[in-house]
Amino acid sequence: MSKSIQNILVVGAGLMGSGIAQVFAANGYKTTVADLKQEFVDKAMKKIDSDIAEMKEEGLADDAYGAAVKENLTGILNSQIPEVAGQMDLVVEVIFENKDAKKELYQTLSDNCKEDCIFASNTSGMDIFSLTDDFMKRPERMIITHWFNPPHLMKLVEVVKGPKTSDETAETIRALLEKCGKEPAVLNKFMPGFIVNRMATAICRELYYMVEQGWASPQDLENAMKNTNGLRWGFEGPLGLWDFVGLNIPATVAADVIPTLCSGGNNIPYVDRLIAEGKTGVRAGEGGLGKYPADIDAFIRKRNKRILTMYKVLEGFAKEDEQE
Ligand SMILES: NC(=O)c1ccc[n+]([C@@H]2O[C@H](COP(=O)([O-])OP(=O)(O)OC[C@H]3O[C@@H](n4cnc5c(N)ncnc54)[C@H](O)[C@@H]3O)[C@@H](O)[C@H]2O)c1
Repeated sequence: MSKSIQNILVVGAGLMGSGIAQVFAANGYKTTVADLKQEFVDKAMKKIDSDIAEMKEEGLADDAYGAAVKENLTGILNSQIPEVAGQMDLVVEVIFENKDAKKELYQTLSDNCKEDCIFASNTSGMDIFSLTDDFMKRPERMIITHWFNPPHLMKLVEVVKGPKTSDETAETIRALLEKCGKEPAVLNKFMPGFIVNRMATAICRELYYMVEQGWASPQDLENAMKNTNGLRWGFEGPLGLWDFVGLNIPATVAADVIPTLCSGGNNIPYVDRLIAEGKTGVRAGEGGLGKYPADIDAFIRKRNKRILTMYKVLEGFAKEDEQE
């Protein structure tokens, strides 16, 4: 059973909030996006315009998409939240990853929203459920929706249930995200890293462990992953691959591999050393894979273009699957 959603408030119009608001508005939901200052709201609207222009250029959006965003999206200041909160069926919280700021906002929302309003946090990893447990009037309507950057293109949204989140809330959110063209993955229990960051941690920890042991260079390891999983993961994930190979083979390999895997400890010493040396990645000019070009903007543009290219390929696969 799922509840009908019409009016959505997105609080926080930064990198993620602007894209999330764009998706809801493009899909016909009356969407209000709030931020602390008018200049932040204006910046978000500009970003949305340029993202839509880029989508159109790439053939990923038409005039109707842009018109729907214009018609359905309104920007407000966070001081106006108490005035509009009562009309909202869903509030998506996309503000700074800061406990006090989030707590204060949820207090305002809890005081001003109607009884059946759903609250969805885009937190990257904060346990929003225990943070708000002592004052949220309806904890069964609290949920995490963890979007990926850029939200208007990335299909996955991780949906994380808290200890009191109702099945109705999770179903309503899943249905809404699917209507918006997303592919939600529901996690029944709050676990650090959710799904994707948990797996990224396991993989990167093992890769840096191999480097630390002197077994391989970061560049060769990166290439090994790109040249195998890079080709497949868009249409066949690791579980699908094991089924394709036949589970008896990976199970035999696993019996030898597991005793030699990195285990224990709470950090990745190789990464800690890189951080201590200021080699934190692309924006610092150097990271785990060595030096990066000084023109970061050009690097990001090229990367974004490649995301768009891959997106189009995956859309093609999705259409093929629909026709089968
Ligand atoms: N950046 C990512 O790739 C990413 C991915 C997934 C989840 N997240 C999470 O999403 C949230 C937002 O991240 P972001 O990257 O968009 O940050 P951001 O800094 O780009 O945007 C946050 C926005 O929230 C606004 N804000 C802060 N307090 C507010 C309040 N009380 N009312 C209204 N607006 C307020 C800020 O002015 C800012 O514009 C964080 O919880 C983050 O952990 C980020």
